[in-house]
Amino acid sequence: MTTLATGTAAQARAAGQPSPDEPVVIVEGLHKSYGALHVLKGVSLTVRRGEVVVLIGPSGSGKSTFLRCLNRLIDPEQGRIVVAGYEMTSPKTNLPRARRHIGLVSQHFNLYPHMTAAQNVMEGPVTVLRTPREEARRRAVELLGRVGLADKVDIHPRQLSGGQQQRVAIARALAMDPAVMLFDEPTSALDPELTGEVLDVMKSLADAGMTMLIVSHEMHFAFRVANRVVMFDEGVIIEEGPPAEMFSRAREERTRRFLSQLLSWEAEEGELVAHDSEGAAGAGGGGGEGGG
Ligand SMILES: Nc1ncnc2c1ncn2[C@@H]1O[C@H](COP(=O)(O)OP(=O)(O)O)[C@@H](O)[C@H]1O
Ligand SMILES: [Mg+2]
Repeated sequence: MTTLATGTAAQARAAGQPSPDEPVVIVEGLHKSYGALHVLKGVSLTVRRGEVVVLIGPSGSGKSTFLRCLNRLIDPEQGRIVVAGYEMTSPKTNLPRARRHIGLVSQHFNLYPHMTAAQNVMEGPVTVLRTPREEARRRAVELLGRVGLADKVDIHPRQLSGGQQQRVAIARALAMDPAVMLFDEPTSALDPELTGEVLDVMKSLADAGMTMLIVSHEMHFAFRVANRVVMFDEGVIIEEGPPAEMFSRAREERTRRFLSQLLSWEAEEGELVAHDSEGAAGAGGGGGEGGG
């Protein structure tokens, strides 16, 4: 459970971010209904700076709703949300301003088709932050390099694979210098052979100290990258813990059942996650690496 924000003080954005242990996301008692459907039933979660939290749980358990409440794309009826120091649930908060600090990457890349990769990445800084075009372009090129797309800067999305488009989408979110990155099943729309390149970029962000909330069922990734795995079921968090602990000895039967489905699935794909009983899971982590 080590979070190494190694040598990346530069990365750790200067903008008003306080001490390392400071919560970046605070959620207390969140409720959301759609008509009669009570989707979030009192969810509380705190994410500290530099933490990587992976949200798992059955389809329909409220994970996407939860993420979308964080930047108030969805309005919860009850509860408190603070992100990067902004009271997201206060009527006084300037939401557009607050949202600049929250990067969101969903399964649909939603790139502008008529713009090149660099133009897509520059768009937010230029239109929202009023960054001069030249500077925004320089930064876009740098970010595209960081996600492994240095040679695709002036290419349009239709000429890019799904994995490459998703990496442009990540660069676009990073261009706003967010305090936290939210990922909602970022690889679920990708062909299996393209998920690795996106997960690798996400891992490099984690290694650089980015605070991240990730809905994903890529358990091998969660095992290597997450500080915590949080299990949603029917609109509540039923348990959470470090991945090695959750995978080897989850407390809740529902979590064990859910994980065993996922883990056997990954095993079938040759991505077996260390799953020994006596806590051996914590040691290796090499279970599926290299792919021998
Ligand atoms: N805009 C909406 N209107 C009505 N029901 C919705 C809406 N969005 C989600 N739901 C319902 O809320 C529940 C939780 O959905 P969601 O948050 O997407 O779950 P998850 O991401 O965990 O699969 C589901 O039953 C879903 O059908
Ligand atoms: Mg979802």
